[in-house]
Amino acid sequence: MRLLCPLSELAGVAARGFDPGPPDRAHGIVVVRGDGVFHGYLNRCPHLGLPLDWLPDRFLDSTGRYLQRANHGALFRIADGCCVAGPCAGGRLVPVRLVARDDGLWLDEPGAG
Ligand code: FES
Repeated sequence: MRLLCPLSELAGVAARGFDPGPPDRAHGIVVVRGDGVFHGYLNRCPHLGLPLDWLPDRFLDSTGRYLQRANHGALFRIADGCCVAGPCAGGRLVPVRLVARDDGLWLDEPGAG
């Protein structure tokens, strides 16, 4: 597992980008809070493969209820990454597994130590 950050850094944070590598995660990942838990996805829209954020750590729509790909207006449910509007409706963000433990938020990578 790889430490993303101390949980204290995420107090009051709705969504934040991380760049833990490797190259197959070219735009990093987004960590977003929904229903009191953190969800993680590759920061890559299924439409054209572009990052979701239009400014650093700006991932949410104006309601705060959806992740938004700003340029083309795609909206994704926070809980499951499913696209509910936009050119990739029915598509889905690729989830990554997060673990909150030992006062930190960790990226759980199968096969990693
Ligand atoms: S790149 Fe995602 S909606 Fe176009």
